[in-house]
Amino acid sequence: MDISVFLGAPGSGKGTQAKRLSEEAAFQHLSTGDMLRAAIADGSDLGKKAKGFIDRGELVPDDIMIALIDTTLAKLPASSKIILDGFPRTVAQAEALDNNPKTRVNRAVTFEIPEGVLVERLTGRRICSKCGEPFHVKFMPPKKDGICDKCSGSLYQRSDDKEDVVKRRLVVFQQSNSQLLNFYRTSQRLKELDANAGVESIQTNLVRLLS
Ligand code: AP5
Ligand code: MG
Repeated sequence: MDISVFLGAPGSGKGTQAKRLSEEAAFQHLSTGDMLRAAIADGSDLGKKAKGFIDRGELVPDDIMIALIDTTLAKLPASSKIILDGFPRTVAQAEALDNNPKTRVNRAVTFEIPEGVLVERLTGRRICSKCGEPFHVKFMPPKKDGICDKCSGSLYQRSDDKEDVVKRRLVVFQQSNSQLLNFYRTSQRLKELDANAGVESIQTNLVRLLS
């Protein structure tokens, strides 16, 4: 497997870029946040365990997340080119990937962005309930209010994109991010990306970093 992990603050654009790369290039996009939200919508045991943590803006415990990503990766062919978006979030999660030779991470891309722009990015985000396409009321507005440009699905706001939860998520991110960056920096796998730019130019730079 060829595994790239996307690191970066909530709202730094990980999901937007990973989705584009999975549509335009041969990458498989795995977002642990999307998996958890799907589990909550299904009412599964995983969803029941995760919901409280997500609603408070806290991390879901490592044992649950490591088991989830283990089972997901085990089902994929060895030839897969994978983008992990939102995993790992802790050094324990990063070590769990590396401990299995099949899932050792090839590169980690950190989406660098000033914290000041993130609250507006997150509170203005809208997502298509049908195809998952992300929009933004100001930066990427849909042509028709509340309607997805791609599939005409209706747009919704994530429950953890309210300002108070957003602020907590940013604090939680700061608590583990520098250890995670050190983990990949010391093993020469860390690549920095300027994520405070236009979507297209970020994508061009990202493709270069992933090749
Ligand atoms: P998750 O779903 O991973 O959320 P997150 O990390 O907080 O990241 P976001 O999805 O909010 O941001 P993003 O970087 O994808 O930004 P996006 O591209 O959408 O996790 C949610 C929760 O699940 C966590 O809080 C935790 O509870 C739990 N969880 C998940 N994984 C876990 C793990 N491994 N361990 C423990 N718990 C876990 O962009 C944001 C907005 O900006 C959009 O509106 C977009 O249109 C806009 N935008 C994007 N790019 C640009 C640009 N270049 N210019 C202007 N606007 C832009
Ligand atoms: Mg995301």
